Amino acid sequence: MDAVTVGIVGCGTISAAYLRAALDFPEYRIVACADLDLARAQARAAKFDLRALSVEALLDDPSIEVVLNLTIPAAHAEIGLRAVEAGKHVYSEKPLGLAVPEARQLVERALERGMRVGSAPDTFLGGAHQTVRAALDADQFGRIVSGTACMMNHGHEHWHQDPGFYYQPGGGPLFDMGPYYLTALIDLLGPVASVCALTDRSAAERVVGSGPKAGTPIDIGTETHIAGLLRFATGAAISLITSFDVWAHRHSPIELYGTKGSVLVPDPNRFDGQPMMAIARAPWVDLPVTHGFAEADHRGVGLADMARAIRSQRAHRANGEMALHVVDIMQGLIEAGATGRTVDIATRCERPSPLPRRREIGLLD
Ligand SMILES: NC(=O)c1ccc[n+]([C@@H]2O[C@H](COP(=O)([O-])OP(=O)(O)OC[C@H]3O[C@@H](n4cnc5c(N)ncnc54)[C@H](O)[C@@H]3O)[C@@H](O)[C@H]2O)c1
Repeated sequence: MDAVTVGIVGCGTISAAYLRAALDFPEYRIVACADLDLARAQARAAKFDLRALSVEALLDDPSIEVVLNLTIPAAHAEIGLRAVEAGKHVYSEKPLGLAVPEARQLVERALERGMRVGSAPDTFLGGAHQTVRAALDADQFGRIVSGTACMMNHGHEHWHQDPGFYYQPGGGPLFDMGPYYLTALIDLLGPVASVCALTDRSAAERVVGSGPKAGTPIDIGTETHIAGLLRFATGAAISLITSFDVWAHRHSPIELYGTKGSVLVPDPNRFDGQPMMAIARAPWVDLPVTHGFAEADHRGVGLADMARAIRSQRAHRANGEMALHVVDIMQGLIEAGATGRTVDIATRCERPSPLPRRREIGLLD
């Protein structure tokens, strides 16, 4: 297939990881980049041999088919919508939007315009997760009845040079890291029907820990501890805790408990990892990784899958409907925490089709 041409909007921290990983994917070619801060775009362009453009010029460029949206969460829906209006597909960093209305508008407008919306995370396409998916689909653990998912740490301000957005709506541990856990769970179990939650903002003060803004106080504009319960459409009840208020813990990222046995799912923020299983009273053993690819960082595989899907006119896996459902669940958890009520989740999505049992990059169909 001829490579799909991609232009990046947003040349911050994560753009370097995408640009490095892109060299492994023949499905797409990043040709240009833009940023509100043109100097950032120029620096990336010089390093990776791209054209640095203004955001307007990139959106107007007819040679660019897909906008890779790596801006901050508050700009995701706006840039996505502008890309779609300009006749381009968009693949967005997570979350797809700050709230359901703007994420839904993007997905619906793209559908009307015949454009695709893709979204990170794509780690559920990694070898560890696809192996667990295959084992679940083969009914190795029976019906999943319950489980836990835990993402707890003390936030990003010790390493990120400009961490303010992590503590505003669209950030926080839920909107920042929840998409990895929720996308993995949806891939394994299907959509969520309702949620309830207890939420809190525990740390009294936070300051930027590194870079030119070191020592600057951070304004806390969102919940930093969210203990939720997810009722999946299948009936499975999964506890999800996301927190920036925990210094240390020893929970597994995801544990699922079925009628025949239990499975430990590795970190959904990574492509690799070793799943483990225990059938009935037997001891824990490794579940051999048989599917997908298991290299440490292949951020961009979801975009590669979307590029291939554009050429072969099939559905892509890390898609806008699933990302919209994730936003809906996260918004529902915040609302449930604020009101003390169970919140029904209105959106639904299909489980993405599993990857075939082979490991080579470039063989995504
Ligand atoms: N940093 C990470 O390790 C990491 C990992 C995974 C995902 N992400 C996600 O990637 C996204 C970007 O994160 P980051 O860490 O690179 O942030 P960042 O602040 O380092 O970079 C964001 C860039 O987007 C630009 N930008 C903001 N609004 C814009 C607009 N309207 N038009 C054009 N450019 C605009 C900013 O000038 C900045 O250069 C976030 O959604 C984040 O959740 C980050």
